[in-house]
This record gives sequence, structure tokens and C-alpha cells, in this order.
Amino acid sequence: MSEMPVVDLEDIRSTDATRRAKAAEALRVGFGDYGLVYIQNHGVDTDRLARFYDDLVALFQRDEEEKRSWARPDIWYQRGWTPPNTEQAVVAGGQPDFKECYFAAPMPLDPKFRLMFPEIYSENSWPKNAEQWREDYLALGQKVHEVGMELLRACALALDLPEDLFAKGTEGGPHVTRALWYLPLDDKQVGTDILWGEEHTDFNLLTLLPGGQFFDPDHKACARPDPDSGLYLRTRESAEHPKGRMVHGKPPAGCIVAQVGQQLEILTGGTYLATPHVIKPPKAVGYTRTALAHFIHLHSEHKLFPHEKFLTDDVIRAYGPPVLAGTYGLKTLVDIGLAPKTALEKLGYHHYDRLATARNG
Ligand SMILES: [Fe+2]
Repeated sequence: MSEMPVVDLEDIRSTDATRRAKAAEALRVGFGDYGLVYIQNHGVDTDRLARFYDDLVALFQRDEEEKRSWARPDIWYQRGWTPPNTEQAVVAGGQPDFKECYFAAPMPLDPKFRLMFPEIYSENSWPKNAEQWREDYLALGQKVHEVGMELLRACALALDLPEDLFAKGTEGGPHVTRALWYLPLDDKQVGTDILWGEEHTDFNLLTLLPGGQFFDPDHKACARPDPDSGLYLRTRESAEHPKGRMVHGKPPAGCIVAQVGQQLEILTGGTYLATPHVIKPPKAVGYTRTALAHFIHLHSEHKLFPHEKFLTDDVIRAYGPPVLAGTYGLKTLVDIGLAPKTALEKLGYHHYDRLATARNG
């Protein structure tokens, strides 16, 4: 039995006040202490997900030259394929994650903001001869997004906030779905400190993770090869555990994981916690794992600052000054090594050279 709360979406939708109160309590405890809940009765098609993962593994075994053609360094890898050794967590101290990924936006995004943030509002690009994979990708991303929107409304109500407080701020935002393939370790790497994903917090509002799938060295779907591998999260610190506790996240069968991102922590003044998490590889040569992560973001024009209900001097110090979600995202992409430092130069006034030209001309 897991210590992390399970939220039943049918409880959230119920007309029975007792069931709704049960779900609200699970959200407060889960998002408040663990930054995470498990969700059941979510309606995501698990057969479609299994097919998507099989196709992902086949696709990522195509030759290197074709895969390179899917990579979009020009838009900081925010669409298409992210090669291994590209992204690193902010605290990683130089160790890149041991994974390769694909990024696509499952729904139409605000076209006005494509002009200002061409990278994160980019059109999708797709591999050739992968039509079913593409269809499954978009359908899964959209369905998981719906689940996330229900949770955002419920987790606002759970704190006695207006129901749409978080959900409304996401409309047209740069939501993105990521397909991940955590890479095989060889016999020299197994048992070392190589991680599939270094400890980090997500910088978006809410992350949804339908269950991942392990694959054996022959690329056949298989059970978890090592009970200690997978997702670990660090709980909120307490007097007893000043560094928090590392807890192994093992969702009950069929559950989706929902994780608080930094944006939701900020809006709630730290009441909900963006939980540091890490992905440990198995101590088994040649095994890989697929995953799907959907990232719900605030729209880029939305202000990131705690709701007035949470404002104390400590909270203002901890989460101020306010910035826009778009600015915040830009800075984060620089911090994690995907965008160049020069990307920050687009912030603020762009036209000082006009005066310089006038004075010198
Ligand atoms: Fe993450």
C-alpha cells in the first residue's frame, strides 16, 4: 500500500459532498506534502498507450542520421527529437540525463505568442512513416490534458480558491507532451551513479505521467527488472526530516501520476510543493524504459505571483518579485542548458541601437 494519496476522478465529479471532500483532502495532502498524487478512473486508453510505447521504441531505433533530421536545435529542441546528452537538470553539476525524447504540442497554441516565443509556441514536426504514432501521441496528450484540467479545478477548490483560478490561466498556453526513452546501461555503467533523470523540479504548472513501460534488451515490453528502479521524490522538509525523505513512487496499477510544478507552487505561496524527483535506472544491463509526460503551463502572459490568500512577508520574500510565465520559462530553458544565454537579451527594450545610430550618424 502506497503512502501517497490516490485521487479518484469519479470522486471529484461526484454530486456526493463526502466523496468530493475525500478527493479534496487527498489533493491537499498529496500536493502539499509530496507534490504528487496518483489518479484513478482517468479514462486514458491504456491499449493506445502500450501501442504508442512499442512504436516509440521502434522509432527511436531508426538510424542516427534520420533521427538527427528530427532534432530542432534552432528552437531549443522544443519540438521534435532531443538527442541524448542534451538536457541537464539545474542541480546536476554537469551530468546530463541518460535519455532521448520527443516533444510535440497536442493542441493549438496562441498564435500571437508564436511571434514572441517562437520556440515554445512552435508548430509540431513529425518523423516520416509514423502516422499511427503521431495520431496516438496527439490523442494521448489531449486526453491527459483534460485530466489535468479537472485536477487543476479540484485542487483550487481544495484550498477554497475560485475553481477556475489555475485552469483559466492555462488557456492557449505552451502545453507540451514529451515522449521519453530512458537509455540502456552497459555492464560498466550499471551500479554507478548514472541516473536516468537527475533530481529536479518541473518548471511548469502541473505534470501528468501515465504509467511508463520497461523494455528488455531485445526491446520487448517487460516488468520492472529491478524493484529499486524508477521514480523517487523528496518530500517536504520537516523538523524530523530537515532534508525531506526520499520516497519511491510506485503508482498502483493503471494510475496516472500528477506532479506539482514550480508555477503551481508559486501561485499557492508554497502550499502546494514542486517536488524534487529523480529517475533511477535498474541495476540490469540493457533495459530501457519509455514514459509520456504532459506539461500543462500557464499562458505566457500570466503573472507568476502567489494568490493574495497566501501573502505573508515570508511568502513575498520567497516568491517575489513577480515575473510573467513566459519570461520565467525563458530563463528556465537557459538554466537547463537548452536555450543560449543570449536568449535573455530579448527581454526588455530592444531598440537602444536606434539612439546610438542617431547620435553617431
Ligand atoms: Fe520532471
